[in-house]
Amino acid sequence: MAAFKELVFSGVQPTGNLHLGNYLGAIRRFVEMQAREAQCLYCVVDMHAITVWQDPEALRGQIREVTAAFIAAGIDPKRSIVFNQSQVPQHAELAWVFNCVARLGWLNRMTQFKEKAGKDRENASIGLYDYPVLMAADILAYRATHVPVGEDQKQHLELTRDIAQKFNTDFGASITAQGHGEGFFPITEPIIGGPAARVMSLRDGTKKMSKSDPSDNSRINLTDDSDAIAQKIRRAKTDPEALPSEVAGLKERPEADNLVGIYAALAGTTREDVLREHGGAQFSAFKPALADLAVSSLAPIAAEMRRLSADPGHIEAVLADGAERAEAIAQETLDAVKDIVGFVRRKRG
Ligand code: TRP
Repeated sequence: MAAFKELVFSGVQPTGNLHLGNYLGAIRRFVEMQAREAQCLYCVVDMHAITVWQDPEALRGQIREVTAAFIAAGIDPKRSIVFNQSQVPQHAELAWVFNCVARLGWLNRMTQFKEKAGKDRENASIGLYDYPVLMAADILAYRATHVPVGEDQKQHLELTRDIAQKFNTDFGASITAQGHGEGFFPITEPIIGGPAARVMSLRDGTKKMSKSDPSDNSRINLTDDSDAIAQKIRRAKTDPEALPSEVAGLKERPEADNLVGIYAALAGTTREDVLREHGGAQFSAFKPALADLAVSSLAPIAAEMRRLSADPGHIEAVLADGAERAEAIAQETLDAVKDIVGFVRRKRG
């Protein structure tokens, strides 16, 4: 633990099918972070999932499926810590303390709550409202320094930073008295960006690719086989123009921009590089190139997910091992937090 300078934490909800947006915007970035000199923790956030009702049997399956996707995509559960949130009770425990630090006014500004609650706000669960506080607890239970997330999570990360700051200030004297020096919680850095920070629907370049879009052709699911991937790209909406030779030419062309962005992300390059090679090409030529690239990058992940899913015992062993290692770190934080806020703690061992 102490050997690493950075601590990376991120989470994915086990709700519905994972798609290309989850892969390029999150999971693939998680894999890349393993190359840094960092301890990485990747969490299946099942407690966040139940902020809206989930079918219990389906939830169990989806927790295993997200875990399989993590491993299939290249997260090494020996090097990184892979676990599901509900197995580590310190997340909920710290969330309570943070409930007493966060302000109503802060949560009232959260745009994701407003979107998810919709018009019928009175009928939203309290968990949905409190979601960002639990997320702050996820991150700060490990005093994570870096969090790779999609653009839509930026506001939640800012809330996490506000909570850390207010805790550090409110309990400043106690933090020092307990021997923790300045600032007990770090001010966590979000890592957002890359060519596919936002992957859009294949049917409408102005809408985000989403598990809840009624058209399955709007998204590439992580479990799609080669034929499905190629077909969805062939059918993707485009405009009649050829590809421009410069990025500026993608403006006001959301579908073209999205496909070029996906190509760049899968190839590990930039939009500029893709247009240097494919600028001037018609979609009739670009789409097959994109389909080949997508199939060669994604089909092996789908195959590995199928292989892993056939052995739920293995997945559960990975989660149990991850939970044990995660809990060891989180417990240290919780012990310190209890001392700092003035609880009388049961001393262990
Ligand atoms: N809210 C995140 C999402 O929907 C998931 C999440 C929960 C998360 N806890 C987290 C992401 C902690 C990063 C860090 O994508």
